[in-house]
Amino acid sequence: MAFVQNHETKMRNFEARDSSGWAVNMDTCVDQMEPDALVDIIRQAAGCDVSSFDEVFLAKSVARRIAASGAADAAEYGQRLADDRQEAETLLRSLLVCHSEFFREPLSFALLEALVLPELVRRKKQSGQREIRIWSAGCAAGQEAYSVAILLDELVAAREAGISSMVFGTDVSEANVAAARRGEYHPAAMQNVRLRHLDACFLRQGDSYRIASRIRERVDFSIYDLLDTRTNCPPACIFGDFDLVLCSNVMLYYRPEYRRVILGKVSHGLSRGGYFVTSQAEREWVQSASAFRALAPPAAVFEQVGGSW
Ligand SMILES: C[S@@+](CC[C@H](N)C(=O)[O-])C[C@H]1O[C@@H](n2cnc3c(N)ncnc32)[C@H](O)[C@@H]1O
Repeated sequence: MAFVQNHETKMRNFEARDSSGWAVNMDTCVDQMEPDALVDIIRQAAGCDVSSFDEVFLAKSVARRIAASGAADAAEYGQRLADDRQEAETLLRSLLVCHSEFFREPLSFALLEALVLPELVRRKKQSGQREIRIWSAGCAAGQEAYSVAILLDELVAAREAGISSMVFGTDVSEANVAAARRGEYHPAAMQNVRLRHLDACFLRQGDSYRIASRIRERVDFSIYDLLDTRTNCPPACIFGDFDLVLCSNVMLYYRPEYRRVILGKVSHGLSRGGYFVTSQAEREWVQSASAFRALAPPAAVFEQVGGSW
């Protein structure tokens, strides 16, 4: 609860600027908008259902678009949405925040490197199984999936473990999945990448860095909506049974009942005793679920222990 309040306070204190640099007073915009009325306006004007999105996040996103489009208020903006298909697309795109980074949360990646991945290799060797299966759910342009694939590549080579791995990266956005498959990044995206990983796992090509084919081959990207109620795991994975799932900075954009749908999928997809990595911002929701035990608080890394959420 404290977390939700902090999150909302943070969002309320946020001051957006449109492309001309004009500051938008978010408190006023948010207060003027009743969340369900906003959902109805968008449904009627653009024919899309945005009721799953977190109410404060949705209001902030619409307020930003109102400011950028020059509409006077939500009602006028609704009319704009109805008249201009492109504005509806821009709004929907803005709801899929796709910022990501390689090795984004250093504490989590340190734990993956030092504890989780070595333990998975040990378990596989002990059980005679040969493949480690990992799912990066909401993978944006592939940074998270490639980060874990890089660590695993290094670990398996160092231990001569003879274990193979497959990382499945999924995202609801077609554009993100296409970018992830390309695996090409601006040099600015390399700021958290260690020099030895940069040398061993990327190729410099003109103005960009391309992920090495050795790593690329171990990662499979596909489109998948985490809110799809017809499936429990992405069809591209055929079955779940993941040793590790990463789902970071995705749940926080959704209302609580939809966060539970996502957590349910993660839990269902994990093998017994499997590991789950989320973000610091989402850690408390997972912490309060009895299905998971925090591995080393305050890191947002968990082990599945059974129970419900
Ligand atoms: C902020 S990025 C986070 C990327 C990465 N997990 C990280 O922590 O750096 C959120 C990603 O989740 C994706 N996403 C949002 N809703 C989704 C859904 N319902 N199903 C699958 N992916 C979703 C977005 O398209 C975006 O790429």
